[in-house]
Amino acid sequence: MLYIGIDLGTSAVKLLMMDETGAIRKIVSKEYPLYFPHPGWSEQNPEDWYEQSMEGLKELLDGCDRSEVAGISFGGQMHGLVILDDQDQVIRPAILWNDGRTFKETDYLNTVIGKEKLSEYTANIAFAGFTAPKILWVRDNEPENFRKICKIMLPKDYLAYRLTGTFCTDVSDASGMLLLDVKNRKWSKEMMDICSVREEQLPQLFESYEAVGCVKSSIAEELGLGDHVVVAAGAGDNAAAAVGTGTVGSGMCNISLGTSGTIFISSDKFGVDRFNALHAFDHADGHYHLMGCMLSAASCNKWWMDEIIGTKNYADEQKAIEKLGENHVYFLPYLMGERSPHNDPAARGTFIGMTMDTTRADMTQAVLEGVAFGLRDCLEIAKSLGISLERTKIVGGGAKSPLWRKIIANVMGLKVDVPACEEGPSMGGAMLAMVACGAYANVEEAAASIVRIVDTIEPDPELVEKYNARYDQFRRIYPAVKELFGQIG
Ligand code: XUL
Repeated sequence: MLYIGIDLGTSAVKLLMMDETGAIRKIVSKEYPLYFPHPGWSEQNPEDWYEQSMEGLKELLDGCDRSEVAGISFGGQMHGLVILDDQDQVIRPAILWNDGRTFKETDYLNTVIGKEKLSEYTANIAFAGFTAPKILWVRDNEPENFRKICKIMLPKDYLAYRLTGTFCTDVSDASGMLLLDVKNRKWSKEMMDICSVREEQLPQLFESYEAVGCVKSSIAEELGLGDHVVVAAGAGDNAAAAVGTGTVGSGMCNISLGTSGTIFISSDKFGVDRFNALHAFDHADGHYHLMGCMLSAASCNKWWMDEIIGTKNYADEQKAIEKLGENHVYFLPYLMGERSPHNDPAARGTFIGMTMDTTRADMTQAVLEGVAFGLRDCLEIAKSLGISLERTKIVGGGAKSPLWRKIIANVMGLKVDVPACEEGPSMGGAMLAMVACGAYANVEEAAASIVRIVDTIEPDPELVEKYNARYDQFRRIYPAVKELFGQIG
């Protein structure tokens, strides 16, 4: 049988088709626009997601035996606020995970409601990208829109709703709303009151691998699919990527180098760090995870290559980088502000340390290293919680670069395992569909039989030492310039 994973990303939707042995039949990608209507705001049109997903599905299904398609599921960009009225019309563009407008609302939640209460209700504190502060923003800035809200959902849930008619979400993605009691996997009454929402406005909760329904007959007909194509709830893109790389069970780590950069640590027990610096969320395998999230990761390199240097040839540009661990230039990768660990929407990208002999290659290297140092910031928090890691998997567009993988292995001091397929969220989505269809008994079993590691980058002790020294410098830069960010606008 065939299974489809849909990764609803920030720059594109990626669709992957595989059979139950894990053999990938086809991958299709369709782009859509991202809007920045004000500095620090980030929005998308849910209709674009749906249209491009349907286009992608048609292309994916072209030439295959459609009667073999058994299930579909998702990995979706997290935290985005999608609101529908009583006619199921989208009320306003979705406000995305990397949108920094909710400075005031986040501050209100963390200081007036208080971090302790938030952590007690949800296992997390407020970050600007989370969904609850966005709901408060709409309530206080667009009261007309707020009054119209009938349904609140996350980006991938909009696709599930259009495909099946079921108003649903899964616990991994719901964890990032700051409305979920993560420990008990149910909506928090206290948070609903704080955000002025009622339970009937929130989607029904499922585990990621549970079926939420079947593809509607009108859509099945349009796509040429059978009557009983199962749709599973799916997961937030990071939890889906973790499934796709076999980061399930306890103490496993995955790094995702996509538009965002995340470090994801799976755990079979619920746990919260004392300062809530890492997100404590439900995992798609039925358990839990901790996660640090950088708002700009591969997107920093894309920005530097496409917008500043003006090249599409990333690999050639990286060939000129020769001296790892010896660069005198540093880059703070905060082009959209930063989430983990600084929780500072006002933070900005910064180069520091250039001299007259600084080269273009040094600057490119600084960008790659700056992202790796940002991930190391998150790793340091995990270490401070007593979590000890020896290795990590890696996925995402940035993970295609052998040089970047090497930098990450040495900056983090971790062995980096490269999976056969770097399309983490779509692969995880397809695997969740398999579990929902009964092809595997559970997510762990699917991962054990499907995920293959094809390469491991071992850190080189000499280089690790050099990077440790450079990381000590890097971590002093943000506190030194932090005050300026708010002032320079
Ligand atoms: C995770 C996060 C990002 C988005 C990117 O908390 O905000 O990784 O999910 O799609």
